[in-house]
Amino acid sequence: MSNERVRKLSEDVKLPYLGFGTYLISDGEAAAVVHEAIRAGYRHIDTAEFYQNETGVGEGIRRALQDGGLSRRDLFVTTKLWPGNAAWGQTPKTTETTISSLEESLDRLGLDDVDLYLIHAPFDREQRLAQWRGLVALKEQRKARAIGVSNFNIEHLKELEDAGLPLPQVNQIELHPWSQKPALVRFLEERGIAIIAYSSLVPLSTWRSAPGHDSAKTDAMKADGEREDSPFKAMAKKYGVSEAQVLLRWGVQKGYAVLPKSTNPARMRQNADIFSFEIDAQDMAAIAKMDRGDGVAWSIGDPTKAS
Ligand SMILES: NC(=O)c1ccc[n+]([C@@H]2O[C@H](COP(=O)([O-])OP(=O)(O)OC[C@H]3O[C@@H](n4cnc5c(N)ncnc54)[C@H](OP(=O)(O)O)[C@@H]3O)[C@@H](O)[C@H]2O)c1
Repeated sequence: MSNERVRKLSEDVKLPYLGFGTYLISDGEAAAVVHEAIRAGYRHIDTAEFYQNETGVGEGIRRALQDGGLSRRDLFVTTKLWPGNAAWGQTPKTTETTISSLEESLDRLGLDDVDLYLIHAPFDREQRLAQWRGLVALKEQRKARAIGVSNFNIEHLKELEDAGLPLPQVNQIELHPWSQKPALVRFLEERGIAIIAYSSLVPLSTWRSAPGHDSAKTDAMKADGEREDSPFKAMAKKYGVSEAQVLLRWGVQKGYAVLPKSTNPARMRQNADIFSFEIDAQDMAAIAKMDRGDGVAWSIGDPTKAS
């Protein structure tokens, strides 16, 4: 891939490859953190109804716009529909409640529209198509400038295709050297569906190490992240960057947008510096062999495995 900073989703909607993740950032801290991220150069902010921080994220965006120099259209804001999961005792959303969910998210964000609206996960077989129809309607109403899905596998995407519905413009999935999902990536690339990678930093020992930041990462994986002979440590040394930068650069070099999350301003700035070096072909080939299969970001395991 070239060093393009954005990927066109349509004539007037451009997805920045560098995004900022906000999962596990509380509503109370989100305003200051998001304001700082925009000051550090991030133009793509990723939140979700489920993260319960849309009010703070919206406030951070407003503060950044008040600083001057940026307009709303300079920023790319994503939020996600929480689709409801009957298995967790929740009521799955219908087309109507999908539409009202985005309206409620926009109220919390204090925005007229989002640049991207995603179905967070493919939980409910009965309501998946109804929810997707809701997103299609929201795009027609221009409340969502682009629409997509998250954690959908090939079967879920084929379901939309077979129903004759417009295909998602984006699929946001867990992707890093330990979870490369080659068949799904090929399927998305063949259809021109843009890929946003989340949890790029899973192999690091510092990834979600704070108390209460749960995942399905095993103790053995955690130990691997701490090993002195970690291949990412050697690559970081070779390129004169951090391991986090190597992992993020791998994502953009594969053609994926990335969403590093950090509440630490120094790491935030470091994670944004991924266009000043290139991983060579030999190291890309070595990383291609590190795939271990499913993702670990969800404590329930990889939701792309859901049927
Ligand atoms: N669609 C989905 O289902 C889904 C699922 C998961 C995530 N996401 C999105 O993707 C975003 C990113 O994923 P993520 O939050 O799971 O993880 P991530 O961005 O891969 O990693 C974040 C973790 O790594 C640490 N970290 C960040 N930069 C670092 C650096 N330079 N050096 C060392 N450690 C560093 C952070 O700690 P500090 O904050 O202390 O720096 C935090 O513990 C989320 O915030 C969310 O927006 C989406």
